[in-house]
Amino acid sequence: MALIAHLSDIHLDTADGGRSAARTRAVMDYLEGLPVDLDAVLVTGDIADHGRPDEYASARELLLGSRHPVLVCPGNHDDRTAFRTGLLGLPGSVEPVNQVLRTAGCTIALCDSSVPGEDEGFLSDGTLAWLEEVLAGTPAGTPVLVGFHHPPVELHTPYVDQWRQFGEERLAALARRYPDLAGFLCGHTHTATATVFAGRPLLVAPGVVSALRLPWEQPTGPSPHVHLDLPPAVAFHVVDGGGRLTTHYRIVDASSGLGSGR
Ligand SMILES: [Fe+2]
Ligand SMILES: [Fe+2]
Repeated sequence: MALIAHLSDIHLDTADGGRSAARTRAVMDYLEGLPVDLDAVLVTGDIADHGRPDEYASARELLLGSRHPVLVCPGNHDDRTAFRTGLLGLPGSVEPVNQVLRTAGCTIALCDSSVPGEDEGFLSDGTLAWLEEVLAGTPAGTPVLVGFHHPPVELHTPYVDQWRQFGEERLAALARRYPDLAGFLCGHTHTATATVFAGRPLLVAPGVVSALRLPWEQPTGPSPHVHLDLPPAVAFHVVDGGGRLTTHYRIVDASSGLGSGR
């Protein structure tokens, strides 16, 4: 079994009066205070709001000081070179940032679905080849979770659907060859969502920095797409030995750092 926390879209911005950092800190403090060790904490992109070095320095302090293993991937707001150098401490490169974590209970592959200079997502041929190598190199019977920033299907949220992940039929074809692929994880839409892709669960983590206003919630007037007043939230994924994925969503009280069950 594996227990994984999944947050997304922290959008760290050092010029926002500390708002994004405080919300991220509340979520991380909540995870640090849990009485169990997590197998992983995943952060599925939009780590920095503008891809600036100071934002990645803040991310490094907020995320990588965790006692849990942390795995991150870029989103459309990130800059691959600054992400590598400022957050991961690696040499700069514009190549996709793909990373794998093998825990006792499952393998987690985070793919870079960002496209430099664009808001929409796409997995490059190189990234798909890397993912196939991970899947082929995983012992049969070990569940694999595959994550990235952009959802590969429409979620009936036109505002973000226009910038979803395209070319998804290539990923679906790959998934058909690997029955141990237990589910897909992503972010980008800033709203907790559950659906299906390629016959597997597709779970979207809520946004830490803000929440998407759903089409049937939208008022007229400025900024109709974003809730800034809803609290941050996090997903917990439980993968059992048979590869069955169960997901719980938990709201975090940003004023106290404690999760609440609302
Ligand atoms: Fe975002
Ligand atoms: Fe995004």
